[in-house]
Amino acid sequence: MREKRWFWATLTLSSITIVSVVFAAWELVDNRFFREANYLTLHYLYITRGVATSLVLAFWAAWFVLRQRRQNEEDLRRSRERYRGLLEAFPGAVILYDAGLRVMEWNASAERMYGYPRPEICGRLLPIVPAEKSEELEQFMRRVEQSEAVLDVETMRLPRDGEPFEVQLSLLPFREAAGPVYFLEVTSDIRERVHWRQRMLEIEKLTSMGKMAAGTAHHLNSPLAALLIRIQMMRQRNTDGAFDEDAARIEEGLNFCRHFVQRLLDFTRATPMHKEPQDLGAIVESVCSFFLPAIQSKGVALVVDAAKGRGRQVHADRNLLETLLLILLSNALDAVSPGGEIRAFCRVVSPDRVGFAVHDNGCGIRAADRERVFEPFFTTKEPGRGTGLGLAIARNVVLEHGGTIEIESEPGAGATAYVDLPLAEVAQMAGSAKP
Ligand SMILES: Nc1ncnc2c1ncn2[C@@H]1O[C@H](COP(=O)(O)OP(=O)(O)OP(=O)(O)O)[C@@H](O)[C@H]1O
Ligand SMILES: [Mg+2]
Repeated sequence: MREKRWFWATLTLSSITIVSVVFAAWELVDNRFFREANYLTLHYLYITRGVATSLVLAFWAAWFVLRQRRQNEEDLRRSRERYRGLLEAFPGAVILYDAGLRVMEWNASAERMYGYPRPEICGRLLPIVPAEKSEELEQFMRRVEQSEAVLDVETMRLPRDGEPFEVQLSLLPFREAAGPVYFLEVTSDIRERVHWRQRMLEIEKLTSMGKMAAGTAHHLNSPLAALLIRIQMMRQRNTDGAFDEDAARIEEGLNFCRHFVQRLLDFTRATPMHKEPQDLGAIVESVCSFFLPAIQSKGVALVVDAAKGRGRQVHADRNLLETLLLILLSNALDAVSPGGEIRAFCRVVSPDRVGFAVHDNGCGIRAADRERVFEPFFTTKEPGRGTGLGLAIARNVVLEHGGTIEIESEPGAGATAYVDLPLAEVAQMAGSAKP
């Protein structure tokens, strides 16, 4: 408004100045050259003066107005570019639509997020609202029409190709000078945030479940041990053999319960670790010789080659490392049939890593199960045989020692579990470098 007034004031003042200058110049010419001129000459002279003044004024005004117009157009172009630039650079999807859901604006982020190019979507009905969310959008639009802001609401939007996904939405009113209200929808993709929130909830749930399991296991441990001793005593005293089969079943069941409780305690272990440099070869040999009788009793052969681990130290808690090896050996033993073979061997992985592997020529793991074997409580063994916690514990132990564990298997031909650990100096250096 101020600019308009300024424009007219400048145009009027400059026009008055031009008229004054032309008239003054004319008077001078008049006085100098036409002092003696007759009435008719003067008459034409004044007409010419009027026409000339009008022409000069018209040209001036036309030039002035055109210049101002060009400047306005340039300003408008620049502000449009700035507005488009802002719109395109905005990280969220910005969409403008009218009360009938006809799209009027669609920025680059919206193209990326929803897969519709701008020229194709502008003028069309908004296609990204899943059917079950259309009523919600109507409510939001009513709130916006009553000047109530809809800010940072979590909802769903539907891309061109794919499934509906979670977005954070704000809906704002957008009014042109005297026109109707339009709706400015700003959305950002929050799939990752939702995923992590769910993971955190799961972790929280697992943590509290773990605590509960640890408490329960702790309480069950002693009565189970007492029951086992009692049943063994009963079997010894029961000389006529009347309850032998039942007692053996009860003992087997109790043994499984103890195994389960022990696994739970290992899984939720809260005791601190005592890491010391350990000779990997020596540990592999000692665990294998401890486990040999169980292997032999099933008619399975055990081949141990720990030479590459001899003299190579890992910074580890000896008990945990032994548990890890026992878990892998007992899985191998469960998988092989009598007459089969288990091989335990050490290997040098890289100059700063050493490892061991347990191979068996047993039943192998089905491709569909391979992804799941490290999940807590995943087992393919019949009820009362496997807890499904062995490999979950093994993975925890390996991670706590800065290592990796992998299982390769060909169904029907056997499986090999590979464990890699950092050498003691490397692990200690990494440990001391931690803040
Ligand atoms: N060497 C292997 N050969 C074939 N399958 C295996 C082998 N090792 C693991 N698995 C599969 O992975 C599953 C999970 O193993 P995990 O050690 O975690 O539990 P589990 O052996 O079933 O129970 P638990 O360890 O308490 O006895 C097993 O049920 C089995 O299906
Ligand atoms: Mg197991």
